[in-house]
Amino acid sequence: MVPDQDVLSISSLWSQLTQCAAQEKALHLADLFEADEQRFERFNIDACGLLADFSKQRMSDEARDLLVALAEERQLRHWLDALFDGAEVNCTEGRAAKHWCLREEAGHAPQVHEQLDAMERMVERILKGHWRGVLGDAITDVVNVGVGGSDLGPLMAAFALQCSLPPEGQARPRIHFASSMDGSQVSQVLQELNPRTTLFLVSSKSFTTVDTLHNAKTARQWLARGLGLDYASESLLRCHFIGISANPRRMAEWGIMPANQLQFWDWVGGRYSLWSAIGLPIALTVGMDGFREMLGGAHAMDLHCRSMPWQKNLPVMLALVDVWNINFLKIPARAVLPYDGRLKHLPAYLEQLEMESNGKSVSRAGEPLDYDTCPVIWGEVGPNAQHAFFQLLHQGTQPIACEFLMTARRYTEDMHSDAAVELEGQHALANANCLAQSRLLALGERALDPKVALPAYKRYRGNQPSTTLVLDELSPGTLGALLAMYEHKVFVQAVIWGINPFDQWGVEMGKLIATDMLAVLTDPDNAEGLDASSQALARHIARKQKS
Ligand code: F6P
Repeated sequence: MVPDQDVLSISSLWSQLTQCAAQEKALHLADLFEADEQRFERFNIDACGLLADFSKQRMSDEARDLLVALAEERQLRHWLDALFDGAEVNCTEGRAAKHWCLREEAGHAPQVHEQLDAMERMVERILKGHWRGVLGDAITDVVNVGVGGSDLGPLMAAFALQCSLPPEGQARPRIHFASSMDGSQVSQVLQELNPRTTLFLVSSKSFTTVDTLHNAKTARQWLARGLGLDYASESLLRCHFIGISANPRRMAEWGIMPANQLQFWDWVGGRYSLWSAIGLPIALTVGMDGFREMLGGAHAMDLHCRSMPWQKNLPVMLALVDVWNINFLKIPARAVLPYDGRLKHLPAYLEQLEMESNGKSVSRAGEPLDYDTCPVIWGEVGPNAQHAFFQLLHQGTQPIACEFLMTARRYTEDMHSDAAVELEGQHALANANCLAQSRLLALGERALDPKVALPAYKRYRGNQPSTTLVLDELSPGTLGALLAMYEHKVFVQAVIWGINPFDQWGVEMGKLIATDMLAVLTDPDNAEGLDASSQALARHIARKQKS
C-alpha cells in the first residue's frame, strides 16, 4: 500500500520557492548568461543519447536547489520505488502502473515476453509476405483502428521511424491510421485500399471504445462487400483482422480469432501502451529488432531515472523545471517544437500523455488543490510553427515556456549521393533556426546589435524560457529513451503535486453523456431536463437534416 501525502499542508519550501520566484522575477535571462559563463555546464544533462539544456530556463542555482529539496520532501524516492515495485500507484482504480515492465529484459516478465514473441511471429509473417488475404494475396496495407493511446503513440513512433530501412529481405506494408469517430479518416483510407490486400489492427485496451468499434465495423462491412463475403465470415476475420486489447473476452465477442489476438494488461495505462502489442505498427515499420531496440532505449531511461541523483536525472529535472514555471513563475502554457519533421506527431502524443495524466484538480485523497497542475501543452514542427504562432511567443503578452527538440546527426548514412548532401544542408538549416529561435526568445533584443535603436513594434522583450533537447540521432533506441523520459517526468510532477496521473475520470463522464445525446439527436423534442442550448442545437440539426 502506498501512503498518501498531505498535499494541503503547503510546506515551508513551497513558501521559500514563492519568495525566490518573487525576487528573481525581475531577472532577465540575458543577465543570467552575462553574469555566469559556466551556466550551460551547470544546467545540462547528457544521458541515454539525449542532451537536455536547461540553461535557458529562468532558474537560479538557489531555485534549483530548493526544487530538488521539494522533490525530497514530497518523498520522490519512495514514490519511484513504489512505481517500480508494482505498488497500487493508481489509487482510484486500485491498480499498479507497470508500463516500465514492458521493457524489462527477458527473464524478468515471462508473460510480457510471451506476447512479444507472439507479436514477432505475426510481424515476420506480414513482412515476409506470408500473411495472406482471404483470396491468397500478400498484405500491402495495414490499417490501425484505435484512438487515444491506441493511436497516438504508434502513429507518432511509426511516423518518426519510417525513414529507417526496412529489415533485410522484407517488404514493409504501408501503415495507415483511423481514429476519428466521425468516419472521416476511415472513409478516406478505405477509398485508396484494396480489400484483398488490407489487414486491420483493431487496437483498444478496453475493446469498448465506441470510436474504435464503429470504425472497425465500417472496415468489416467494407471488406465483406469488397470480398463478396458475409459480415460474420470466419475466413474474413482470420485473414483480415488482428485484435490488440487487455480485454480478450470482448475481442472474442467482436469476432477476433483466438490466434489473431494480442494481449496486454490492466496495469498498462492506455497512454503508456505503445511498448505493448499496441506498438505493432511500429514493429511493422522497423521490424521486431527495431522494436526491441526501442524497448531497450526506454529501459536504459528507466535505469537512469531510478539511479541518478535528482540534479543529474533527466526526467526529474524536466519535471522540476516545469513545476517552477507553472507554480512559481506562473507560466500557463508550454509549446513543444520539434525541429526534425519526423517528430511531427510528438506534440499530439505529449498532449495526451501530459494533459490526460496530470490535468487534475484533486489530490490523491480527493481534496481540492489550491495550486496549478498541468499547463496547456500544444505544438507543431518548429520551422512550420515559426510561420504560424511564433509571433505570439516573441511579441505577445503572455509568458510561454518552449521545448525545442533537434537531432545532431541525420542523413549521414548515404552522404555520397548529391541529394543526401543537399538534405544535410537542410538539416543544418533547421538546426540553425532552432538555435536562433531559442536564443532570441531567451535574450530578446539583447541578442541583436545594441547600437541599433528599434521602434516599439520591432522590440523583442525576450526572457521566454526554454529547454532544448538534442538527440544524438533519431533511432528506435533514442526515441524509446525520449518517450520513457517524458513518461517518468509526468509521474515525478504528479508526485510533487500529490495527484494520481494514471486515471482519466473527466474523459469517462463525457462518454456517458454522449450516449444520452445520441437519443436526443434522434428525438430532440423528447429530451426532458436537457439544457436549453443543447436542446436548441439538436432541434436545429434535425430541422436542417429534413430541409
Ligand atoms: O480518452 C480516454 C481513453 O480511455 C484513453 O485513456 C485511451 O487511450 C483511449 O480512451 C482509448 O481507449 P481504448 O484503448 O480502451 O480504446
